[in-house]
Amino acid sequence: MILVTGGAGYIGSHVNKQLHLQGYETLIYDNLIYGHRESVKWGMLEIGDLADEKRLEEVFTKYPIDAVMHFAAFAYVGESVREPAKYYKNNICNTIHLLEAMRRHHVNILVFSSSCATYGEPEQLPITEDMPQHPINPYGRTKWMAEQMFEDYKNAYGLQYCCLRYFNAAGADPDGEIGESHLPETHLIPLVLEAAAGIRDHVSIFGTDYPTQDGTCIRDYIHVTDLADAHIRALEYLKSGGQSLCLNLGNEKGCSVAQVIDTVKQVTGREFTVRKAAARPGDPPALVGSAKKAQEVLGWKPEHGDLRMIVEHAWRWQQEKTF
Ligand code: UFG
Repeated sequence: MILVTGGAGYIGSHVNKQLHLQGYETLIYDNLIYGHRESVKWGMLEIGDLADEKRLEEVFTKYPIDAVMHFAAFAYVGESVREPAKYYKNNICNTIHLLEAMRRHHVNILVFSSSCATYGEPEQLPITEDMPQHPINPYGRTKWMAEQMFEDYKNAYGLQYCCLRYFNAAGADPDGEIGESHLPETHLIPLVLEAAAGIRDHVSIFGTDYPTQDGTCIRDYIHVTDLADAHIRALEYLKSGGQSLCLNLGNEKGCSVAQVIDTVKQVTGREFTVRKAAARPGDPPALVGSAKKAQEVLGWKPEHGDLRMIVEHAWRWQQEKTF
C-alpha cells in the first residue's frame, strides 16, 4: 500500500488516480485544510495532520505501508514570507514526524513533492539539477531543507528517496474527474480562466517590463498528468533499487504570461479585461527546466506538453468542476 500524504490536494489527487490505474492500493493522509474530500475518488482516506504524531503512528500501525509519496505542505510563496514559522512547522517539522514514523515502521521508500523554487534565480536556462540551489523565499527554503534531510537520512538510515522538482504544475485530469481547486487561488492559469468564465472581472499581468521577448514573465507549465506519470516511474525506480536523487519535472519550454492569456482567449473564445500591474516581489523573469535527467533515469517524457492542451483540460475543469 502506498501512503499519499496530501493526497486530497491538486497534485496528490492526480497522482492518486494514476497509482490506482496502475493497480496500486493507496491510503490518503490529509488534514483537508486545503485538500478536498471530493478529490479522493480512489483508495482510502484517513483524515489527519502530520503534526499529530499519535495519529500518524496509528495509521502506520493499521496499514501495510510499503512506500510514501509526500505532498502535504503549505505552498503559498507570499504567505511564506509573511509567516515563515507556519511553513517551517508544517513543511519541515511535520516532515520529520513522517520520516520518523517511516523509520519506526521500516518504510524506506519516499517520493517527495519538491519545487523549482529551490533554485531561486538561476544564472542560466534551462535549469539542470546540478545548478546551485539558492531559494529566495521561505517556501523554497523549506523544500530545499527537506531535500537535504532526506540525504542525511539516506546516509544514516538507508532511506531511498526521489525528490521531484516541479516547474509550474498546470492543467487537469483529461477525463475531467479531478482538477485544480485552490482557495485562495493565486496561480496564473486558473485565474485567467476565472476571468474568461466571468467569475473575476479582470486578470492582472504582474510586471510588463521584464527582460523577456514580450516583457512578461516566462514559466515552464507542465501538465499535472505528466507529473503524475513521473511519480509512478519514480516509485518503480526506487522499488527496483534505484539510487536516491533529485529530478526536475518540466517541459523545457517557456511560455510568457501574455502567451498564456492569448491561449486562454483562443481556447475559450471569450474576451475579458487584462490589466497591467506591478511585478510581484521575488518573481524571477524566467524559469525553464531541463528534463533530460528525468528522461534518462525514469524514461519520462511529457505527453501533454502543449500549452493549448493544458489550457483545454483546465478550462473543461473550470466549467464542470464539482469542488
Ligand atoms: N501571474 C500574473 N498574474 C496573476 C498571477 C500570476 O501575471 O494574477 C504571473 C506571475 O507573476 C508568474 C506567472 O504568472 O510570472 C506564474 O505565476 P504562478 O503564481 O501561477 O506560479 P509561480 O511561478 O509564481 O509559482 C509556482 C508555484 C509555487 C512555486 C513556484 C516555483 O505556484 O508554489 O512555481 O516552483 F514555488
